[in-house]
Amino acid sequence: MTKKILITGALGQIGTELTVSMRKHYGADNVIASDIITEVPEGALKGGLYEVVDVVKPDQIASVVKKYNVNQIVHLAAILSAVGEAKPHLAWDVNMGGLFNVLEVARETKAAVFTPSSIAAFGPSTPPDNTPQDTLQRPTTMYGVTKVAGELLCDYYFLKYGVDTRGVRFPGLISYEALPGGGTTDYAVHIYYDALKHKRYTSYINKGTSMDMMYMPDALDAIMHLMEADPNKLIHRNAFNVTAMSFDPEVLAAEIKKHIPEFIIGYDVDPVRQRIADSWPNSLDDSAARMEWGWSPKYNLASMTTDMLAKLKIKLAL
Ligand code: NAD
Ligand code: SER
Repeated sequence: MTKKILITGALGQIGTELTVSMRKHYGADNVIASDIITEVPEGALKGGLYEVVDVVKPDQIASVVKKYNVNQIVHLAAILSAVGEAKPHLAWDVNMGGLFNVLEVARETKAAVFTPSSIAAFGPSTPPDNTPQDTLQRPTTMYGVTKVAGELLCDYYFLKYGVDTRGVRFPGLISYEALPGGGTTDYAVHIYYDALKHKRYTSYINKGTSMDMMYMPDALDAIMHLMEADPNKLIHRNAFNVTAMSFDPEVLAAEIKKHIPEFIIGYDVDPVRQRIADSWPNSLDDSAARMEWGWSPKYNLASMTTDMLAKLKIKLAL
């Protein structure tokens, strides 16, 4: 069956690249990008089908799904961790309301659904090192609360209604196309821009704070790979731990210094984002994803840094 894919939140950090990548893979006319933003910024998404969809409004999702006979929804529209702590009501409405609306439309139309969870679905009582696939989940952020509830809701729609729901717990994602949208791990993107532009970076996350991370090409691969996986082999459908590397700001800075020897890192710690980071794992165990659908990232810290700096140099015309 030809895939007809709707991407929500397509103008964000992941969607900007996923849309282009999925269009190459599945055909330009089979991937419909959507977002709450009415005007697509110049150059974003490289043209192609685009619809304004506010995921809080179920009719808007349903009407686009019916218009294009969509049979797969990649649901990326969300409020991330730092913005979610500043605006918890909005995070609840968009993250929970939006997911519920997407799942309801999927139930009615029999569409499959991909929804990313996050390392934020864990909390301070979770074992922080080599965090198991199945473990304690008592997050202390509104974003994390919506992510755990979202994992459960997706399980529920599969068990009760047979909706083909799938998902991963993404770590911090690092990319050079679109800037991140207000998370805690964003420092690991901004540091590359500042290293190239100013040869220094002031980190709002303290040294010694390790978090899982992944380069965007691996994240895109994870989404497409999981949605193509044999459903009979999936035990943990909606919340696979996936990771590619784990580092703290000092380790990242040392890697950048190999390319830009003058680079220096300083610290001006933001207590809100530091508290969030401290509540998340240091490193995940992603063996379930490896075993159940063959997850295997291609980039480590060294290869990601080489590629990021090369691509950003071109983007920033340096
Ligand atoms: P982002 O903040 O960059 O993009 C989110 C997009 O959603 C934005 O374009 C925004 O305009 C849109 N949006 C907001 N409210 C909306 C609404 N009501 N209706 C429709 N669109 C709306 O986020 P991202 O980094 O691309 O993340 C996508 C998903 O991946 C989210 O579920 C996020 O929790 C998850 N995730 C991201 C990361 C990461 O590091 N980027 C890590 C873990 C999980
Ligand atoms: N990168 C995301 C955030 O920091 C993790 O889900 O919010």
